[in-house]
Amino acid sequence: MLPVAELHLHIEGTLEPELIFALAERNGISLPYADLDELRARYEFTDLQSFLDLYYANMAVLQTEQDFADMTRAYLARAALAGVRHAEIMLDPQAHLSRGVPLVTCVNGVASVLATSEGDYGISTLLIAAFLRDQSEESALAVLEELLAMQAPIAGIGLDSAEVGNPPAKFERLFARAGDAGLRRIAHAGEEGPPSYIIEALDVLGVERIDHGIRCMEDPELVERLVEELTPLTVCPLSNVRLRAVDDMAGHPLPAMLAVGLNVSVNSDDPAYFGGYVDDNFAQLASVLGLSEFDCVRLAANSIRSSFASEERKTELL
Ligand code: ADE
Ligand code: ZN
Repeated sequence: MLPVAELHLHIEGTLEPELIFALAERNGISLPYADLDELRARYEFTDLQSFLDLYYANMAVLQTEQDFADMTRAYLARAALAGVRHAEIMLDPQAHLSRGVPLVTCVNGVASVLATSEGDYGISTLLIAAFLRDQSEESALAVLEELLAMQAPIAGIGLDSAEVGNPPAKFERLFARAGDAGLRRIAHAGEEGPPSYIIEALDVLGVERIDHGIRCMEDPELVERLVEELTPLTVCPLSNVRLRAVDDMAGHPLPAMLAVGLNVSVNSDDPAYFGGYVDDNFAQLASVLGLSEFDCVRLAANSIRSSFASEERKTELL
């Protein structure tokens, strides 16, 4: 199994249907689905928002530290089978705070498992607090201050949720504050939003990595810049197909992105919702797009080099 780093993963997007039902039962929560089949029947998405609606609704079952810890352990166990040896995991604190779940509950639940992930699963990990771009910058700033005050073990911040209409520049102060606090910075851009959002994320927010970024291919000048600057793009093929950012796997731009020299990696985004983990993404790329072993090795090396792992860990994995 090729060792890879997973750089684009929402921990809440790893909540599998079986675990949703198990946690609902444990917490005495009644779900609006009679059984697993009825829940699975909802996993037909028309765009990003149609997915986000279900993704946020299903978070209702996450109530205690143990719930967050169980979800995290389940992801790490599955990711280890996929060859993941380093993972940078996003958590959406605002999505839990708005449901009345305290910050300490979600952060500690995930972080307590990540603290021993290398020994337990062979996966070095770090945690990234992602902010919801369809909420206000004030809300994000307040949560960031709280995270800093509690010395939450976060390595960086990200920006996710509904992209179109919520350009990166809306969060200029948030990212400046995070930079001042010594945090790494990444943002979703160019998933559904235009190439200009990628430029804004780089120039206004100062991000080091772009999550998705597939729409850069519409702007040759931007592509040239991204190639020159070796900007990492964390691409998620199955996600793009399921959220209809692309028509089908056969039409996915990843081979073209590789061909022009972009620094792309393969990631699973929300694997419980999009039909598979990192290994499933690689398998689809190989079977549908004929990605060669050489391409796969290059993609895996890109993921490790583009990670925020220590130089020592990167050397170990390369
Ligand atoms: N939150 C979880 N998955 C996401 C995605 N693919 N895009 C934006 N926000 C998300
Ligand atoms: Zn994402």
